Amino acid sequence: MESMYNDLEKVLFTKEQIDARIKEVAKELDKDYEGKRPIMVSILKGSIMFYADLLRAMTIKTEMDFMAISSYGNATKSSGEVKMIKDLDRSIEGRHIVIVEDIVDTGYTLNYLKATLKTRNPASVKICALLNKQERRVVDIAADYTCFEVGDEFVVGYGLDYAQIYRNLPVIGVLKKEVYSS
Ligand code: PRP
Repeated sequence: MESMYNDLEKVLFTKEQIDARIKEVAKELDKDYEGKRPIMVSILKGSIMFYADLLRAMTIKTEMDFMAISSYGNATKSSGEVKMIKDLDRSIEGRHIVIVEDIVDTGYTLNYLKATLKTRNPASVKICALLNKQERRVVDIAADYTCFEVGDEFVVGYGLDYAQIYRNLPVIGVLKKEVYSS
């Protein structure tokens, strides 16, 4: 039978490990944002699994909103050009914002997002990322909350895709080379 698991070289983080780490980060957010009613911004589509689990692990009052960003493709991604596909629904003036991302890679996306949101006069803008791939960083930007560090490997699962596949894997794993080089 067809299984996404056959395409994984190895599992980096199991669902149990992910859940446990998310609980810790949710606790930190609960403490840091108590009484502040933060707007939690999910960056589609990669962050959806993380976003859904993180927000359910939090106990303070929060609001949800969503943004979608697209890079101009590999050739121009090195120039850092990104484009907004879907903006937030409401004004963020005077509000505390937490951007929820699946991965910080080159940093272009978060750099753009943070700069864009800051022009709208929010009270604060912070970043909460599931994964950090430090080796690939081009722009000097860091998440304020990070669940796990990963090396320069092709990671998929738990929201992260290859050609839109593997997002619904409950684990985070490394994709076999033959899958993306064929
Ligand atoms: C991925 C990821 C981040 C961005 C990080 O999004 O979700 O938004 O790339 O890369 P960067 O730090 O190099 O900018 P992608 O464009 O693959 O869209 P997706 O979330 O829909 O998978």
